[in-house]
Amino acid sequence: MAKIFSEVSRTFSEYLLIPNLTTSENTPDQVDMSTPVCKYRKGQEESKLKINIPMVSAIMQAVSDSGMAVALARCGGLSFVYQSQSIASQCDMVRKAKKYKAGLVTSDSNLTPDNSLEDVLEAVTRSGHRTIAVTHDGSPNGVLLGLVTSRDYRVSRMDPSTKISEFMTPFDHLVYAREGTTLKEANDIIWEHKINQLPIVDEDNRLVGLVFRKDYEFHKENPLELLDDKKRLIVGAGINTRDYKERVPALIDANADVLCIDSSDGFSSWQKETLEWIKSNHPDIPVGAGNVVDAEGFRFLVNAGADFIKVGIGGGSICITREQKGIGCGQASAVLAVSAERDKYFKETGIYVPICSDGGIVHDYHITLALAMGADFVMLGRYFARFDESPTRRMLVGGNYVKEYWGEGSNRARNWQRYDDGGQGGKMVFEEGVDSYVPYAGSLKDNVDGSMAKVRSTMCSCGASNIQELQEKARLVVVSSTSIVEGGAHDVIAKESDRPR
Ligand code: IMP
Repeated sequence: MAKIFSEVSRTFSEYLLIPNLTTSENTPDQVDMSTPVCKYRKGQEESKLKINIPMVSAIMQAVSDSGMAVALARCGGLSFVYQSQSIASQCDMVRKAKKYKAGLVTSDSNLTPDNSLEDVLEAVTRSGHRTIAVTHDGSPNGVLLGLVTSRDYRVSRMDPSTKISEFMTPFDHLVYAREGTTLKEANDIIWEHKINQLPIVDEDNRLVGLVFRKDYEFHKENPLELLDDKKRLIVGAGINTRDYKERVPALIDANADVLCIDSSDGFSSWQKETLEWIKSNHPDIPVGAGNVVDAEGFRFLVNAGADFIKVGIGGGSICITREQKGIGCGQASAVLAVSAERDKYFKETGIYVPICSDGGIVHDYHITLALAMGADFVMLGRYFARFDESPTRRMLVGGNYVKEYWGEGSNRARNWQRYDDGGQGGKMVFEEGVDSYVPYAGSLKDNVDGSMAKVRSTMCSCGASNIQELQEKARLVVVSSTSIVEGGAHDVIAKESDRPR
């Protein structure tokens, strides 16, 4: 006879937090939002990887490319570059984001003096960067012969075939600094000479990299920026259970910091095999697994070696898995069930396994609820798809700006590895996601700052100075459908407002 769970499966909107005592220590500026990503012996050591805000971007074509990885890491979060693309192009995205470090940047647009203005314009379009290093062999570390920036040419007045040697700023007119110059010294030189970029060269005048004025300023304004020990942004990448033996080494070679198996149903022997192979062949790379929604799924993946566990089936905004297959669980109940098992596992072993709540975050307060229920961080797709930095097109539809957003299980994405049922065929035979638009919402930083401000504020109301304290102290209540109506503005005629929601 089938087992029927006695508890109803619930989602975030069915819960509210009851405030605890707030003291003078509970002010938003004192709240620490950092959180672990990899399992660790809590109380004895630190997690090998921590993020500075509890937000990661979904492993999706419409969400996480190199641009998203850069923008989110600069705000303290982490992106998992999508895996439903060739190994080479995923690695290119990871490399691009890793190169975009705060401070010294490896020049990605390099030409020789014999190249033309047309080549300059093509390089600017390709890379999106307007500074071209002119080196003897056109390589990023060749002997620096000059620089070309938009100040050096006028497209309307010049013949596209004009050689770079005729209009570049030659090396002897450049302000440059020697290898070993600190970021602070480089910034002082930038200010002193009123320049926007400073080439750093070695003693043979070979280009080492470029320091940009804007990078240094951003870093000062964004102390939460997520950097590795070489001051490069931290970048994650999705993998699948089919080509992992080729994809994982290639991603490690591209300097990915953390991996996550991308699957709609992680409670499978394929995930176990994948985790075991990674742990025995590349034990240093952290790898998350999922998605699961209950204690059994959690134990299975942790026993197979997962560093963090991703929770959620069927709650994503573009997801039709529950309708199509009849599997899944309300996201709040799933997080609560898995967190309870995680705490039990910690008591037994002393190892704390972080949990990521994936999908179904609609309001900012859902982030706080997920954390309060035991998640250590949340993964969001729709949320990030709305921003300038997501890889999809911005369009005008019905007088409003929107961005495209499609599920990995949609025909558009054709991410069959994520929905792999095993066997030889391995092809998607029905869709589990839709293709959609989401309202355009501007820059990532503005929105993330706004969302985090709300989470911090709620944590203060709950008397919590960090996420662990929130998890320990949170008191939650299930609300009736009538109280949900009471939660919004009601019984008034609301005025038009551009208040961000
Ligand atoms: P959202 O933040 O509610 O938009 O949910 C994003 C999450 O939905 C992702 O991180 C995936 O776990 C999941 N997801 C992505 N594509 C699909 C799909 O096509 N069908 C079902 N779930 C999906």
